[in-house]
Amino acid sequence: MMPMLFASISRPELLDHLPDSIDARASRPVLLTLRRSPCFAEEAREALLERLLELHPPFCDLEADSRASFLENMLQKHPRTKFILSYHNFEETPGDLEPIYRAMARYPAYSYKIAAKALSANDALRMLLFARKHPGVSAICMGERGEFARVLGPVVGNPIDYACLEEPLAPGQLSVRELVEMYRYRTLNPQTALYGLIGDPVAHSRSPQYHNEVFRRLGRNAVYVKMAVRSEELSEFFPLAKELGVRGLSVTMPLKEKVLPFVDRGDLKLGAINTLVFKQGEITGVNTDGQGALDALEKRGAVRGKTVVLLGAGGAARAIALEAKRRGALLFIVNRTREKGEALARAVGGVCDFPSRYDILINCTPVSPSVAFQPSTLVMDIINRETQFLLEAKSAGCQTVLGEEMFINQAAAQAHLWH
Ligand code: ATR
Repeated sequence: MMPMLFASISRPELLDHLPDSIDARASRPVLLTLRRSPCFAEEAREALLERLLELHPPFCDLEADSRASFLENMLQKHPRTKFILSYHNFEETPGDLEPIYRAMARYPAYSYKIAAKALSANDALRMLLFARKHPGVSAICMGERGEFARVLGPVVGNPIDYACLEEPLAPGQLSVRELVEMYRYRTLNPQTALYGLIGDPVAHSRSPQYHNEVFRRLGRNAVYVKMAVRSEELSEFFPLAKELGVRGLSVTMPLKEKVLPFVDRGDLKLGAINTLVFKQGEITGVNTDGQGALDALEKRGAVRGKTVVLLGAGGAARAIALEAKRRGALLFIVNRTREKGEALARAVGGVCDFPSRYDILINCTPVSPSVAFQPSTLVMDIINRETQFLLEAKSAGCQTVLGEEMFINQAAAQAHLWH
């Protein structure tokens, strides 16, 4: 069953201005909450709650650790109100959630809510798995590292989810618009296939827009979320992701090399992976960066026989170098650390030097190195925006290719692998 999605309102006067589609006053049930606050004595809070409950709100969220006799009294006195008993932990996600749930479940209620701060994506995954195991429980992850879990309530069977109308009221809270429009929250269910991005940071990634739009166009029951994962969290992350049923992941900085020990097969010789496919408990790793970059370049003409210069010798440069070589380019590699440049040139059959003449120049470093650009060459930067490097190339009379094109191509290749 689809969870009830409640929109939080920080300013009650907003109730007069709500758009029709989410009109909490007229057509939607209201959920009453009155959280503890240091400037509010507990007796006064109880007394106000008692008065508000006389208005018979359809739903009321009460702290499960409220005074036992107060709780019992309210639950008994207001059978028309659906009570959600809640646990909040603003510091962390406890390792064992069972005793917390058992303590709440002593009281008969409409449903139970565990809201805890996720300090890592792994905390959020544990919460999602807990919710899936306990049908009456909503797992709500607070904090930015738990943001993705707020999308997945319908997948794990949360009875209730929370979102905001405008600005988030709690860190990591998503807006109703993002949930409904980007993540297609209303179409998600326990059969929805899970995909996502891992890396750190991921906040500004546009991969969810891209992949969720592809799922929508293909009519697939699937969702794509972005998860901020640190390198040292990977060994706990993969078993949890498998248990939750993740089918595929995009991998970004700084994890492209770090995921290799967890990959069972695939493009391992590349030394960097940007796509993972989960099947029957095994993980295949693929790198679609090279294909993405070369497809973008070859829209302007084949690279066969062309002189291609790569600036940088990291994971992305390696993937692009191999693909450029495969398509018949003459490769030159220039790198800050010469030994790394030489090693890559040796590995892919290129030359570690800057040639006097070239056709294509690709920046595979995170910075904009200053280069004496040769007019009428093709210049590309793998960073997903117009960089200083590209601006300078343009003003020197070069034709430029935005990293955005590579991004779209590599994402399309990922989507192809997953479907
Ligand atoms: P990725 O895997 O995404 O390609 P990476 O492995 O960190 O990223 O590689 C970054 C590349 O950019 C490397 O070639 C690096 O040069 P070094 O091998 O000398 O480390 C290059 N790079 C990073 N910062 C740089 C800078 N400030 N100036 C020049 N090159 C830089």
